[in-house]
Amino acid sequence: MTDPAIAAHGLRKSYGDKVVLDGIDLAAGEGTVFSLLGPNGAGKTTAVKILSTLISPDPASGEIRVGGHDLATTPQAVRAAIGVTGQFSAVDGLITGEENMLLMADLHHLPKREGRRVAAELLERFDLTEAAKKPASTYSGGMKRRLDIAMTLVGSPRIIFLDEPTTGLDPRSRHTMWQIIRELVSDGVTVFLTTQYLEEADELADRIAVLSDGRIAAEGTAEELKRLIPGGHVRLRFTDPAAYHSAASALPEATRNDEALALQIPSDGSQRELRSLLDRLDTAGIEADELTVHTPDLDDVFFALTGSTNVPAQPNQPNQPKETAR
Ligand SMILES: Nc1ncnc2c1ncn2[C@@H]1O[C@H](COP(=O)(O)OP(=O)(O)O)[C@@H](O)[C@H]1O
Ligand SMILES: [Mg+2]
Repeated sequence: MTDPAIAAHGLRKSYGDKVVLDGIDLAAGEGTVFSLLGPNGAGKTTAVKILSTLISPDPASGEIRVGGHDLATTPQAVRAAIGVTGQFSAVDGLITGEENMLLMADLHHLPKREGRRVAAELLERFDLTEAAKKPASTYSGGMKRRLDIAMTLVGSPRIIFLDEPTTGLDPRSRHTMWQIIRELVSDGVTVFLTTQYLEEADELADRIAVLSDGRIAAEGTAEELKRLIPGGHVRLRFTDPAAYHSAASALPEATRNDEALALQIPSDGSQRELRSLLDRLDTAGIEADELTVHTPDLDDVFFALTGSTNVPAQPNQPNQPKETAR
């Protein structure tokens, strides 16, 4: 097994009496998206700042390794392996997009020609060529974020920290950003993503850690997290009342809806439970006209774990219950 790209044990941070991170463990596999999810003030930015060497953890913390390097003893090596795109952008509005890029190239000690080539390539890749000669202050929110990521990529980091990269973006720019993140990962880059948007973690993350009260309240894939809380069920719908009634007696635990000819059976939506349900229907010689699996969505999980209602709604994207037709 290779080292995870990011591994933290007992990560602690307090400001005075206030414990922000109360000994958390994090592990992000190479070439994956690891998402730290939490409401405002949960400590996401603090975690990013520590892992990217901008601030120090408390001395009582356990070992923290980033890119295979020990954060406490070799912070320079960590810095060389990572890129950080902050919640508050590094973009300088007074100069042009191109000048911002060239400045980054200088910071990374790229020779002038090489710097110009890399800048032009990245501006092109992020659809900023046309705007390259305009002051960054004239860019839209989405353009600024794209420039910010382009600047991060100048140093070809293998690990990228994205702190709330889509907060405040319109849905279209958000989807562009998601696409960018997917491309980074397909190039083998590890992405540490913080977000307040459950849908974003659900879309992108291989693993999700939910941060609440300074601790990791739960960690796993989106599917694993959704199975942690009750509310999942399978719904069977019939057109033939006779079939509906035989199904209802074959499945006594089902909640009946006689008007809709529908049965609702509690289920975690796992393959095992579905197979057992289908077997029981087969044995009874019953065929449903429609079978849908309803899993709780991440909003339900987040609420159950953090008790927080402090989750901003997705602009223009009402949170629809997730249904998976099978
Ligand atoms: N420099 C600091 N001094 C004191 N408190 C801080 C400092 N930075 C962050 N905090 C506190 O730590 C908590 C977590 O903040 P932060 O990591 O920014 O949360 P998030 O990014 O999840 O919104 C907040 O209560 C915040 O007020
Ligand atoms: Mg933050």
